[in-house]
Amino acid sequence: MNKLKISSKCEKKDFKNMLLGLSQKTLNDFTYFGKISKKNVEKIIFSELKDNKKIRFFIFLENELIGYSFLSKFIRKSKKHVCTYGIVIGDKWQGKGFGYQICKHMIETAWKKKFEKIWLTTYYDNKAALKVYKKLGFIVEGIFINEEKIHGKPRHVISMGLFKNNKNIRKTHQKIFKILN
Ligand SMILES: CC(C)(COP(=O)(O)OP(=O)(O)OC[C@H]1O[C@@H](n2cnc3c(N)ncnc32)[C@H](O)[C@@H]1OP(=O)(O)O)[C@@H](O)C(=O)NCCC(=O)NCCS
Repeated sequence: MNKLKISSKCEKKDFKNMLLGLSQKTLNDFTYFGKISKKNVEKIIFSELKDNKKIRFFIFLENELIGYSFLSKFIRKSKKHVCTYGIVIGDKWQGKGFGYQICKHMIETAWKKKFEKIWLTTYYDNKAALKVYKKLGFIVEGIFINEEKIHGKPRHVISMGLFKNNKNIRKTHQKIFKILN
């Protein structure tokens, strides 16, 4: 994967600096940890690193941590074949193709780990994320109107899925949607 290195481990201080370095714009799109501040960052890192449902990907460029992503399993037996997905790339490194590369690596990992579906949500106006996910073959599964409020403003959320075996997925989606509407 050219210059990028991916590791399941990272020094806490590097993780902390990366998270504290994220701009408000990035944090408006990556709301997974909520508000990140000097006061709560240690707590966030502590609970993130001990979460045993996660496969973690620390992304390094020339030994500098430039991003973090994860796949997360479900506890429920009926959802063992599905994992969820999160990613954030530091501001300086966005738009350089790294997000796409990492996502590809994460997808390969998910299929190797025998997951059959990757499920994620993103904001409807997160153009970079939508572009990357569509390019990777994710399909829109659902639209959640005014699902979240960010700084008091309602924001729509899109749910997307990628299937290991995508045969008939679009057809099934359209069929069900037609029945429901
Ligand atoms: C979303 C994110 C992971 C994508 O990673 P990235 O390294 O920036 O993305 P890439 O450079 O691989 O690709 C971005 C694509 O979006 C496009 N893009 C970026 N901003 C865009 C915009 N405002 N409008 C349209 N397209 C845009 C780029 O042109 C590129 O497309 P291309 O490959 O066809 O040229 C990264 O931007 C990020 O961490 N953003 C903040 C947190 C976030 O949104 N996380 C995802 C939550 S679901």
